[in-house]
Amino acid sequence: MALEVIILAAGMGKRMNSQLPKVLHPVACVPMLFHVIKTANELNPAKIHLVLGHQASKVQEALTKLDSPLQEKITISIQEQQLGTAHAVAQALPKLGADSQVIILYGDTPLTPKVELEKLLTALESCELSLLTSEPKNPFGYGRIIKDEQGNFVGIVEEKDASAEQKAIREINTGMIACRSSTLSSYLSKIGNNNAQGEYYLTDLSSLLVKDGKRVCPIKADPNNVDMLEGINNKVQLAFIERIYQQNLAKQYMMQGLTLADPSRFDVRGELEFGQDCFIDTNVIIEGKVSLGNNVVIGTGCVLNNVTIGDGSIISPYTIMEKSQLKERTTIGPFARLRPGNVLEDDVHVGNFVEVKNSNIGKGTKSGHLTYIGDSDIGAGTNIGAGTITCNYDGANKHRTTIGNDVFIGSDTQLVAPVTVEDGATVGAGTTVTKTVPANCLIVTRAHAFTKANYQRPTKKPKK
Ligand code: UD1
Ligand code: CA
Repeated sequence: MALEVIILAAGMGKRMNSQLPKVLHPVACVPMLFHVIKTANELNPAKIHLVLGHQASKVQEALTKLDSPLQEKITISIQEQQLGTAHAVAQALPKLGADSQVIILYGDTPLTPKVELEKLLTALESCELSLLTSEPKNPFGYGRIIKDEQGNFVGIVEEKDASAEQKAIREINTGMIACRSSTLSSYLSKIGNNNAQGEYYLTDLSSLLVKDGKRVCPIKADPNNVDMLEGINNKVQLAFIERIYQQNLAKQYMMQGLTLADPSRFDVRGELEFGQDCFIDTNVIIEGKVSLGNNVVIGTGCVLNNVTIGDGSIISPYTIMEKSQLKERTTIGPFARLRPGNVLEDDVHVGNFVEVKNSNIGKGTKSGHLTYIGDSDIGAGTNIGAGTITCNYDGANKHRTTIGNDVFIGSDTQLVAPVTVEDGATVGAGTTVTKTVPANCLIVTRAHAFTKANYQRPTKKPKK
C-alpha cells in the first residue's frame, strides 16, 4: 500500500502576531514547515500533499528553495477559507490514491520525531486509525484524549470545548494521525462544526470511528520525545522549540566528541562537521556549512558562516567570517572580519580589527592590526603593518592588489590598486603606493619632517 503524507499549513497563525505566515517562521534558520517536509520525506512517501491557505503564495515561493526532487514529490491544495483541520484535509482528499496509507502532520509541529510516526504506521496495521498522544508538563491549549472507565479511547476534546474535568486530563492529542485514504473519503464529510470555534475539527474523525465500532489506537509518545511534539502557536513556543532543536544537536555533537563550553549557549543554523579535540566557547553561531579540522578552537561570540577551518587553528573571540577557507594553524582575531572569498594558507595570522575580502593570503603571512585587505593576492612570509589599506575601489570598479613573498609593508600604507609589490620589497611606513614596487627595493613616500625650537602653542582666548 502506498504511503502519502498530508501536511496542514493553511492556518493564519493568529497567535504569532506576525506578517509572516506561521509555517515560515524559522527554527534553526529554516522555515518550520521545511522541517516537517523533511521528516515526512524520511518516511519515503509516494507524495507529500501540502494544504496551504493563508498567504499561500508566500509559502509557495519559499518552497522553491527546496531541492528539486523533493519539490517534485509535493502537491499543493489551497484551502481558501480556514474552516478547520478536517476541512483542510478535505482539500487534499481528491489528490490521494484510492487505497493509500495516509499520515497527517501539522505544519506547526516541526520537530516530530520520525520514530513516533513509524509507530503510528505499525499500529495502523491492526486498526482503522492510529493517533499520536503525549503527556506534556502543561497540557494547556491542546486537545485532550478522552477515555472511558475501562481505559478505551472515546474521542478528543479541544481546550475551548473542554469541561473543567476534561481540562485536568494530562494526555493530549499531538495532531499526528495515520489512517487509510478510504477512511478519509467515507468519514470526512460526516464531520460537523458544532463546537466553540465553529470549525470542522479533524479530531472528530476519531470519535466518529469509535461510534461506528471501528478500532482507534492512541499511541503514546516516548516521554523523551514529548518536548519535540510541542506545536508552535506563539513566540514563546517558537523559542522553546528552537532551544529543544539546539539542545538535541549539541548533545549529538558532544557525543561525537565536540567540546562545548556550554551547550545551552551554542547555535547551529546549518550543519557542522568537526574533527577531534575541537573546542567551541560560549555564544558561537554556526551558519550554513561549517567544517572544522582537528584541534580547532573557536572563541566566544564568533559567527562562522560557510567556512572551512584547518587543523590547529585558533579563532579568537568575536570574529565574524563568511565563505572562506582557512588552512592549518591559522590564528584569527579577536575582532577580525573575513568577508566572502578568502583562502588563507597555513600559519596565516589575521589580527584584531582586520578586514579581509576576496583575497588569497600565503603561508605564514601576518596582518596583526587595523587593516583592510580587499581583492588581494599576497604571497608567503609577508608582514602587513598596522593601518594598511588596499584601496581596491576607484569609485567605479574594483581592482586587485598583488603582494609577493617576504614583503614588508610598513604601517599606515595605502596600496592604490591595481598595483603590485614584488618579492622581498619593503614599503616604508606612511607610503602611498601607486605603481609597481620592484623586488627587493625600498619605497617610501613621506613628507620631510622639520622641527622648530621653543615652539609656543596657541593659548585659549579668555571668555568674555
Ligand atoms: C490542533 C488540534 C489539537 C491538538 C493540537 C496539537 C484540531 C481541531 N485541534 O489544535 O487537538 O492538540 O493541534 O498541536 O485539529 N490548519 C489548516 N487549516 C485550518 C486550520 C488549521 O491548515 O483551517 C493547520 C494550521 O496551519 C496548523 C494545523 O492545521 O499547521 C493546526 O492548526 P491550529 O489552529 O494550530 O490547531 P491547534 O489549535 O493548535
Ligand atoms: Ca497548533
